[in-house]
Amino acid sequence: MTYYAVIGASRGIGLEYVRQLAARPDSIVLAVVRNAAKANHLQVAIKGLNNVHVLEADVTDYKTLESATKAASDITGGKLNYLIHSAARVDMRTFFKGFDQFATIDEFDADVLAAFKTNALGMIHTVAAFLPLLQAGSAKKIVILEPANADPKTVRAYGLAGMAAHHITKASSLMAMTKWAVKLQDEGFVVVALNPGVVDTTGTIGEHGDPAAHDALSKAVEGFVKRGIPAVLQTPQESVSAQLKVIDGLKSSDNGLFLDASTGKEYTI
Ligand SMILES: NC(=O)c1ccc[n+]([C@@H]2O[C@H](COP(=O)([O-])OP(=O)(O)OC[C@H]3O[C@@H](n4cnc5c(N)ncnc54)[C@H](OP(=O)(O)O)[C@@H]3O)[C@@H](O)[C@H]2O)c1
Repeated sequence: MTYYAVIGASRGIGLEYVRQLAARPDSIVLAVVRNAAKANHLQVAIKGLNNVHVLEADVTDYKTLESATKAASDITGGKLNYLIHSAARVDMRTFFKGFDQFATIDEFDADVLAAFKTNALGMIHTVAAFLPLLQAGSAKKIVILEPANADPKTVRAYGLAGMAAHHITKASSLMAMTKWAVKLQDEGFVVVALNPGVVDTTGTIGEHGDPAAHDALSKAVEGFVKRGIPAVLQTPQESVSAQLKVIDGLKSSDNGLFLDASTGKEYTI
């Protein structure tokens, strides 16, 4: 059996990971969500499957992560092979704002701190909570999803002053991934960040998807392309299938790298 935990499995890329991993022979998938009763897309996707277990945890609440790992341990006999961290805070009310686009400095601070709690600290806590299970497993792979814009060179090259809270906190997450990689290297772990590319996850916003968000994303991608930024809008299926090829090929020399799903190599602008 291969045991996978997907954090942030209710929708978007995490949900697609659950779909594709559950279709693999001999896989057991732990789909970690904040609220199982409200995870409608996940419930539909896993109906009739007996190799997917839904666990509840909020990455900003360590006690819930501890409870989830206890439940996970009961299911897997104390082991985990792969941890895939997809959870992230995407609050569309503020997501695109730069430093000077908040009404007050307090509003800006609150947005950055909330994003930091989920995107950076939340990831650190998730790895800490699941670590004993990963140490008991044979694969020892940890994958953290990161946007290209977690890399300062990319932000500079594309002149992206907006999306301040997201990029600042994702850059912190990238550094935290590096710290975990260095810390766990001698135990045979491979810890990486993985850039999924631009993925249209608007189909799982709300109960029926969000066509307005889809149009806005398509226009944003067109705008990037006009400015010479090589963005391609992918479906979750396309992106996760490329991401899994990278994950399946991970080797010890990849430990600590920020990889790109489209090339399988280290991300570079
Ligand atoms: N989509 C892209 O184009 C793209 C590009 C580059 C990188 N990425 C990265 O890929 C990852 C997934 O992106 P996505 O587009 O799939 O995002 P998404 O559709 O917004 O999904 C985010 C997921 O995170 C969960 N989540 C949010 N806060 C949480 C918390 N406190 N505790 C536990 N779970 C929480 C959400 O659960 P709820 O349903 O409970 O809110 C949801 O399942 C993110 O790390 C993102 O930065 C995405």
